[in-house]
Amino acid sequence: MSFTNNFLFGGAIAANQCEGAYQEDGKGFSIQDFMPYGVRGRLTEKPELFNLKLIGNDFYHRYREDIQLLAGMGVRVLRFSVAWSRIYPMGDEEKPNEKGIEFYNHVIDTLLENKITPMITLAHYETPYCLAQKYDGWKSREMINLFARFAKTCFESFGDRVKYWLTFNEINVTLISPLLSAGVLTDKSQVSMAQRYQMAHHQLVASAKATKIAHDYDTSLKVGCMVAASPKYPRTCNPDDVIEGLHQHQELDYFVHVHCKGEYPYYSGRIWKKYDVQLDITTEDKEILKNTVDYISFSYYNSKTVAKDESQYQTSAGNILRGLRNPYVQYSEYDYPIDPQGLYYILHHYYEQYHLPLFVAENGMGQKDTVEYDKDGNPIINDDYRIDFTKKHLLQVELALEDGIDVFGYASWGIIDLVSAASAEIDKRYGFVYVDRQSDGTGTLNRYKKKSYDWYRRVIESNGAYLHE
Ligand code: BG6
Repeated sequence: MSFTNNFLFGGAIAANQCEGAYQEDGKGFSIQDFMPYGVRGRLTEKPELFNLKLIGNDFYHRYREDIQLLAGMGVRVLRFSVAWSRIYPMGDEEKPNEKGIEFYNHVIDTLLENKITPMITLAHYETPYCLAQKYDGWKSREMINLFARFAKTCFESFGDRVKYWLTFNEINVTLISPLLSAGVLTDKSQVSMAQRYQMAHHQLVASAKATKIAHDYDTSLKVGCMVAASPKYPRTCNPDDVIEGLHQHQELDYFVHVHCKGEYPYYSGRIWKKYDVQLDITTEDKEILKNTVDYISFSYYNSKTVAKDESQYQTSAGNILRGLRNPYVQYSEYDYPIDPQGLYYILHHYYEQYHLPLFVAENGMGQKDTVEYDKDGNPIINDDYRIDFTKKHLLQVELALEDGIDVFGYASWGIIDLVSAASAEIDKRYGFVYVDRQSDGTGTLNRYKKKSYDWYRRVIESNGAYLHE
C-alpha cells in the first residue's frame, strides 16, 4: 500500500494564528489577544496592536482567496480550528453568536466548493479570556460542561458537512504550558505538576464527552485525539537512559491511551506518585472516559533525545518540546532537530499499540524566507529547504504505508504563513504560500506562491510519485 487518491494530502492552520478580526462580528477575546510575546513572555493587560495575532494573516477577510490557493495545489484536506470565543464570546453564554457560526459556514462551504475536506479542531490554544479570568481556565471542572456546550453547537451547526473532528490540539502540552493549552492565567511557576495532571484530566473528560456528543448526533462523524508527539531517544545505551526514554514516552502515551482505551493506562500510578497527584476522578468521569476516539492524530516536528542525567549534555531548541542535542541528526536555522525517521517511528509506535487510523495533523519547517524579484518585478521565494524537509517526511509516511499502517492523511502545518504559537512572530514561516507580513507588523498581507507551492501540487497530483523524482 502506498499513497492513493483517497490519501488526504493537506494543510493545517489555527484560528488564533491566522484569522485576526479579533473583535469583529461579536467575537470575544481569547487568551491569545493578551499574549503578544508567545508562550514565554508576559501577558498584557489589554489587547495591544503590536500583538500580531490581532490581525494574524487576515484569514477572516481573505479565506476565499486562501482556499482557492489551496485548491490550486490540489490540497485535499484543510485542518482548521473554530475559535470558541467567536461562537461563545464569553465562553459561557446560553446562546451562541450567530455571526460566528455564519463565518465558519462560509469557510466550510467554500472548502467543499473547492473539493477540500474540512477537518475541525475544537480547541487550539484559544481559551476564551473570560473563562481564563473566571475559572483560571481548565483548573476548574466547570470548563467540562462549557466546552461540551460549545462542542455540541459546533457538531449541530457544521456536522452535516464536516466529518472529521479533533477535540484538543496537543492536549499533552497542558503539562508543559498551562497558559497556552489550558488557559491558566496563574504564572506557570505557581502551577504544580499535580495541578497540571488534574487540568489534563478535566480536558480528557471534556474530550470524551465531546466525542459522545458527536457520535450521538451522527454515528458517521469521526472524532480524533491530537497530541504533540516525539519519539524519546535515549542519549546512550546505558539502561538508565533507556528507561528514562521509556518513562518519557509513557508520559506522552498516557494521553493517547485514555482517548483510545477509555481508561488510564496501567503505569498511571507510577506517574501520579512521581508528581504527587491525588487525581479527583468521579464515577461519572470514568463512565464518560469510555467514549473513545475513532482515530489518532498528532503533530510531529522533531524527536527528543533524553538521558537520566541531562546535566552532562548540550541541549537543543524546539518550539515547545526541547531535548538534548542528537549528534546523528541535522539542525534547522532555529536549532530544531530535523529527523524524518522520527515520524516513521511514531507512526509505528501508535499503530502497534492501538491499531486505529492515524492522521499526521501537523508537520513542517519553520524557517525565515527571503523574497527575491524576477526581471518583471514578481516576487520569488526559493524555499528548497522546506521542499527537502517535507519530501523527506512524506517519504517516511510512504514507508509506513508500505509497512501496512493505516495513515490516512498528512497536513502540512501553517500551509499559508501565519503567526507562531511559541514566539508570536511571523518571520519564522511554515507556508507554501507566503504572506507579506513581517514580525514588526508591516506588510501588505498579499499572498505569493513559494517554490514549494508548485512542488506540493506535483506531489499531490502524482499521488506521491513526484517524491521520487
Ligand atoms: C504546534 C502548534 O505546537 O506547533 C501550532 O499546534 C504551532 O499551533 C506549531 O504553530 C509550530 O510552532 P511555532 O511555535 O513555531 O508556531
